Amino acid sequence: MSNVSVILGTQWGDEGKGKIVDLLSSNADYVVRFHGGNNAGHTIVVNNKKYPLHLIPSGILNPKTKCVIANGVVIDLEVLAEEIKMFDVRGRLFISDRCHLILPYHKALDQAYENARGSQKLGTTTRGIGPAYSDKVSYNGIRIYELKDWNLFVEKFTFQANIKNKILKTFGIKEINIKKELEKISKFRKIVLPFVTDTFLLLQNALFQKKNILMEGAQAVMIDVDFSPYPFSTASNTIPGAVNTGAGIPVQEISKVLGVVKAYTSRVGGGPLPTELTDKLGDEIREKGKEYGTTTGRPRRIGWLDLEATKFACEVSGVTDLVITKIDVLSGLKNIKVCIGYKLNNKSIPYSSCGYQELAKLTPEYKEFPGWEEDIMKIKNFKDLPKNCQEYLRFIEKFLNVKISLISVGPQREEYIKI
Ligand code: GDP
Ligand code: IMO
Ligand code: MG
Repeated sequence: MSNVSVILGTQWGDEGKGKIVDLLSSNADYVVRFHGGNNAGHTIVVNNKKYPLHLIPSGILNPKTKCVIANGVVIDLEVLAEEIKMFDVRGRLFISDRCHLILPYHKALDQAYENARGSQKLGTTTRGIGPAYSDKVSYNGIRIYELKDWNLFVEKFTFQANIKNKILKTFGIKEINIKKELEKISKFRKIVLPFVTDTFLLLQNALFQKKNILMEGAQAVMIDVDFSPYPFSTASNTIPGAVNTGAGIPVQEISKVLGVVKAYTSRVGGGPLPTELTDKLGDEIREKGKEYGTTTGRPRRIGWLDLEATKFACEVSGVTDLVITKIDVLSGLKNIKVCIGYKLNNKSIPYSSCGYQELAKLTPEYKEFPGWEEDIMKIKNFKDLPKNCQEYLRFIEKFLNVKISLISVGPQREEYIKI
């Protein structure tokens, strides 16, 4: 049996996936990013030092782990070149030549659409993710593959940039300076190309040799392009199916799906958030949990844990194990609520039947738990957690019908409880 584990966010992103991938990668031969781009911000804290990663997989701090950026990822060369400089990646970083590029006009278009939407803006990270993926599926994308033949790349880039410049002009936005951008790309290209390879072959060999492979999900199920309240989405599929399409790993090779669940909810960007706390308590949790975007620095919106949505995320993703994070942030609250269902016009409605309009209108049903006072960040055994904390966790496990196998009680690598 192969050993491929997938780590996924089950909410709206920023559940603490990076910390968990770093922790588990001490046992992993490979850590693989398979979708998304540098809209992801995965923070790892080791010995009090913070590493915010956007593209390089979160296994990079474990010297024995090989890091793969597989074909489903969209790559901004400038961001990747910067990250390559930050770490010792020699012999440990492998990038698929099938990855599509996020080019300067994608970022400009992302911003242009957001500006044009005005009060209806979606709150994207403006990193060019949507425009890059839409070019990919409309045969207008340019892959890393093209960077190998510079003359051909220049030809393709110039063709696309001229068209995009016409579109940008209609938005009243400054056009791309093709010559200058090509000069920049030619520099980044030299930094990135040495790491470009056939990652399909690499991963097939790893599977054959029964290596331990960790698939590092980005974003989360609630913003999956198909299963989110579209258009409040990201542009990629975030569920385990993307492991197959985004890295070439057959679905039956997946042995575990670890669903990361933050003990409460956060969201950056627009769109309905049924359990949102817009009061002082929300502000308190934001400050205590340091809930500010790793990528954009935006304050994250805060809410109670939404088990109705999380149950859907577990079902659609086939989650086999739960990883609960940031439970320490709830210490000191008098009472803690969890959403256990939705009501619309006095009738129950499941998450899966809701579009963004229903999600914005419905009333969450809550169950309330008594809180706990103790600081739990140094606890190593489940039985040493305060009784009320244990009850809260047991309820989550029972409601979702999936066992908890790991609990994170702080941002540092060693702050966790294994079950
Ligand atoms: P990701 O995108 O899912 O990897 O999550 P982010 O890194 O964007 O956001 C999670 C934040 O919470 C980061 O700053 C982490 O260092 C931090 N973090 C992760 N796990 C815990 C935890 O259990 N407790 C606390 N207090 N912070 C955590
Ligand atoms: P990680 O991997 C939280 C959100 C954006 C916006 C929507 C679309 O760190 O959990 P996009 O730039 O992708 O077109 O924006 O998706 N978003 C995230 N929210 N965590 C992320 O990644 C996100 N990546 C995108 O805020 O609402
Ligand atoms: Mg993040």
